[in-house]
Amino acid sequence: MAADAKFDLVVRGGDVVLPDRVDRLDIAVRDGRIAALGNGLNQGRMVIDAAGLLVLPGGIDPHTHMGIPIKDTESADDFASGSLAAAFGGTTTILDFTVQSRGQTLSDSVEERLGRARGKCHVDFGIHVNLTDQPERRLDEIPRLIARGLNSFKAFSTYKEQGMMIDWPVFRLVLAEINAHGGLLMLHAEDNQHVSRDTAALVAAGETAPINHAKSRTPEAEARAIETASAIAGELGAALYVVHVSSRAGLEAGLAARRRGVRVHLETCPHYLVLDERKYLEESGHHWITTPPLRSPDDVQALWEGVQAGAFDTVGTDHCPFTKAQKDRHGGVFHLTPNGLPGVENRLAVLYTHGVARNRITLPQLTALWAGNAAKIFGIDHRKGRIAVGMDADLTIWDPRPEGVMTLQSMHGKADFTPYEGLPQQGRLAWTILRGHPLVADDRWLEPHPKGELIES
Ligand code: URP
Ligand code: ZN
Ligand code: ZN
Repeated sequence: MAADAKFDLVVRGGDVVLPDRVDRLDIAVRDGRIAALGNGLNQGRMVIDAAGLLVLPGGIDPHTHMGIPIKDTESADDFASGSLAAAFGGTTTILDFTVQSRGQTLSDSVEERLGRARGKCHVDFGIHVNLTDQPERRLDEIPRLIARGLNSFKAFSTYKEQGMMIDWPVFRLVLAEINAHGGLLMLHAEDNQHVSRDTAALVAAGETAPINHAKSRTPEAEARAIETASAIAGELGAALYVVHVSSRAGLEAGLAARRRGVRVHLETCPHYLVLDERKYLEESGHHWITTPPLRSPDDVQALWEGVQAGAFDTVGTDHCPFTKAQKDRHGGVFHLTPNGLPGVENRLAVLYTHGVARNRITLPQLTALWAGNAAKIFGIDHRKGRIAVGMDADLTIWDPRPEGVMTLQSMHGKADFTPYEGLPQQGRLAWTILRGHPLVADDRWLEPHPKGELIES
């Protein structure tokens, strides 16, 4: 500890990943912000030697579900356990979703979700507002929420049985209102007519094994919903954010809309980049049930081509874990199994190992997918998403050298299986730093008290 310390923390000599290049720099932190970037900075009360390590902006995961009801159960991680796992994966901000119960106002659903996160979340957090219960009757709430800094909303074009779907005329209404006030609408895009027709036919034929999950929710259903939603967005001149794009057809529908001038943001997820539908044929294949389903190897390839070409703005995890007991409860019957996978801890490992280390993406591309683009899209780039003087000192320090495998033993969430078990991993997390506070060093947890704060745009 330097007696004449000018800074709270200095991260020395790392390869700092900037939006357009990688520079060997020292990063000095004071009062939770980046105070200086340069060389020869050494007056820190704490100094981290980052020689040989990559220093990235703290990860922003734009899509998590901590403790949400799905089918007859609730996702296994709450904000405490899920955010701990996030930090062990290098993520310093998660953007989660409200759950609007029947008859509940949007603002009450926000307060309920914030109540679950405040004082428990170990990383910073933001909230997207789900529009699931008659949002056409709550249009007046939208401008008020945007004015208080909650500017992202989400609609579902499926999950009718769960009471979450809105139909296309209502989608148009809410999109127009959100757009008029400068907000952004996100969409879970699957055409419910396809899904309910195909699900009903499979169930009626007694085809309930896990592979039928993939047959019941097809790439075509995803593409149709993206086409319909982006046509409406185009007519309104509104932007749209499509969550968890899983297929070649879905990606192509998004790209076709962009070519017509529609502002469509596209997100994919780590599991769609490294896993495919053959998992459903393995023993306990139902453990991999998530919506949209894992797809064919050709879809996986198409998604990587999209990532390489810059077609995807973000990679969000859609973190929604269940324990094996929860997954097993209905004997593997596809349409009864709770859908969702853990992943909040695996995002950087997947992107680094299967993206950077395989020369599919550059480090600046990684940093855009990891943090930079989400910060811009969700309006938190005044604090988050890049390493620059004045920004929150959220840093993810990655050692690119160790070779290993992804395995449950190194995971920290409540799920007792990882969908990535046995996949190769290049590199490992060295440090996670939230607003200047080290949360994780190697495998050690350093911060007993939850430090996460609500981040608004
Ligand atoms: O199956 C999933 N992805 N569960 C979480 C809810 C959703 O649709 O994103
Ligand atoms: Zn979804
Ligand atoms: Zn989701």
